[in-house]
Amino acid sequence: MKLEVSGLRSGYRQGVDVVLGAEFTASTGAVGFIGRNGAGKTCLAQTLSGAIKATAGTVTLDGVDITGQGSRERVRSGISLVPEGRLVFGQLSVRENLEVAAFAAGKRGERLSRIEERFPILREKRDRPAASMSGGEQQLLAIGRAIIQEPALIILDEPSLGLSPIAVDNLTESLRGIVQDYEVTLILMEQNGELLTGLCDEVILMDDGEFVRSLDMSKDEDQQALEASYLGL
Ligand SMILES: Nc1ncnc2c1ncn2[C@@H]1O[C@H](COP(=O)(O)OP(=O)(O)OP(=O)(O)O)[C@@H](O)[C@H]1O
Ligand SMILES: [Mg+2]
Repeated sequence: MKLEVSGLRSGYRQGVDVVLGAEFTASTGAVGFIGRNGAGKTCLAQTLSGAIKATAGTVTLDGVDITGQGSRERVRSGISLVPEGRLVFGQLSVRENLEVAAFAAGKRGERLSRIEERFPILREKRDRPAASMSGGEQQLLAIGRAIIQEPALIILDEPSLGLSPIAVDNLTESLRGIVQDYEVTLILMEQNGELLTGLCDEVILMDDGEFVRSLDMSKDEDQQALEASYLGL
């Protein structure tokens, strides 16, 4: 899987672009984006998932131009979004949440039992309403909902939001396992650099919709630059 984004611009309202020329490639592993409130992370996530239309630039997936595709088509093309705030169906049971996601993607959900193996809490609480779970558990359910769509790419919009430090550590572990087991690429929007450090090969610093700098996480000095940036957020 190779996602190539070039000169991408988009916004929430006509005539007001928020993402101002996004430029990056995601192939294997995980790419992170870090930026303060209002940097445009959610706008970029929504644009990559097809919910917001680009006003300029291109998005290609394995060489195929998908810039014009809406969100349903992109799910079928292999792109799943875990939106900010998780957005599980609180009144539905944990199991029903997974089934609805499988149905929406036109999958039969054979992966359901595999997902329950990976996240035993989802099996344990399968008949409980999703709203009765903790924030960290709901995040795992939201990720389970994305995986069941058998995506090649999962975009996670601030998965660490509202989680305790221990829950963030657990989440980092879970995401690492997912990258290994499912051959899936992750795009992570975050204000929490710790989660990115544990997962990403590349982290892009965003500010006011601009891409300020790309950090190579195999380099010590770039890791330090990431730390400095999020301590300053
Ligand atoms: N629904 C909306 N309609 C119009 N403008 C919006 C909307 N949501 C956000 N904005 C504006 O767009 C800009 C980018 O916001 P966005 O939510 O994409 O940033 P973010 O990096 O995800 O922030 P956060 O970390 O708070 O989630 C901000 O200036 C924000 O005020
Ligand atoms: Mg956001």
